[in-house]
Amino acid sequence: MSSKFILAIETSCDETAVAVLRSNEDSLEVLSNQISSQVSLHAQWGGVVPNLAAREHVKNIAPLLDKALSEAKIPLSQVDLISAVNGPGLIPALLVGVNFAKTLAYLAEKPLIGIHHIEGHIYANYINSAEKSTERKIEFPALVLVVSGGHTQLVLMKDHLQYEIVGQTLDDAAGEAFDKVARILGIGYPGGPAVAQRAAAYESGIRDQGSGRFDLTLPRPMMKSKDLNFSFSGLKTAVLYETKKNPNLLKDEDYIAAVCHEFQNSAVDVLVSKTIKAAKEFHPNTVLLAGGVSANTELRTRLGEAISEFIPNTLYKIPDTSLTGDNAAMIASAAHFRWQKMTDAEKEKAKVGWKTLQADANLKLR
Ligand code: KG4
Ligand code: ZN
Repeated sequence: MSSKFILAIETSCDETAVAVLRSNEDSLEVLSNQISSQVSLHAQWGGVVPNLAAREHVKNIAPLLDKALSEAKIPLSQVDLISAVNGPGLIPALLVGVNFAKTLAYLAEKPLIGIHHIEGHIYANYINSAEKSTERKIEFPALVLVVSGGHTQLVLMKDHLQYEIVGQTLDDAAGEAFDKVARILGIGYPGGPAVAQRAAAYESGIRDQGSGRFDLTLPRPMMKSKDLNFSFSGLKTAVLYETKKNPNLLKDEDYIAAVCHEFQNSAVDVLVSKTIKAAKEFHPNTVLLAGGVSANTELRTRLGEAISEFIPNTLYKIPDTSLTGDNAAMIASAAHFRWQKMTDAEKEKAKVGWKTLQADANLKLR
């Protein structure tokens, strides 16, 4: 098979993203990965405002396409396949990307396929993985811990594009919990990096001084439950109660860092323990991490340590830190694997994707 150029568009939340990827025989090469983040715009509201997000996507998407194609040094006419995230996400935001992609596909007469946002996060693991013969390749079955702002799931993959959700959160997603805790502590949006940074500072203080100034204990919700599900809303509430005990302490940076540290430890404990439990049950050859929270250093490290200790023959694969957040390169990667698995009839249908593709805020992974 000769190489193929894939254009991908992602507008499901607050990042406008366009990427061009070249898929070769056995490697994926990102030629351009353009992202325009709206974080600072939404920060003043403490979360993403759907209509504001859509307005920004409309403003940014065409210039980003221009940049992506010129960095990739190919005209639109040379693109072989167009892909766009068609869900799940905020509907006003999704509609911008999906309709932009439909227009491009129509005008340039290209096949168009929709990609599930989480499928994209999972397939971020296939980018930048050096194709050296010494490196172990991802083998199925694979168990994926998906941790983002909207999802927390344990997904079992028996093969490419085959997903069985074996565990999931019953309430808040892990990233959502980081964001809500950050809001309680008044340390900004998005919460994940803000909490992680303070937790790390507190940890290094403990290492230097032998102990921290504050001795806090938060619960580890559902860690011992028999199933593979999660719950993070009680943990967030426990943080709220903790901070209400003595509101004056919220002026103390060291106290805030101590809460971040204990909250992050709790979230990581639960995520790691349930992933290992699932691995012992399903015996995967690979464990993958996916989603925005996979940027978390503590989670990346502790999951790796637990895998080495409890399931040492299992390959552990994490996405490059440049690809943990929302981006379009991961969407192009998923599109590559989808296209490879499609029948001729399905490829024929993709040719009229410009007519049929629909955004779906609640799209299911399947
Ligand atoms: O995948 P993502 O970029 O968007 C969604 O699909 O939701 O994930 C965003 C989430 C946010 O909740 C953000 O706070 C969290 O990922 N996040 C982190 C870190 N970086 C981003 N959470 C913990 N630690 C981080 N370093
Ligand atoms: Zn995401």
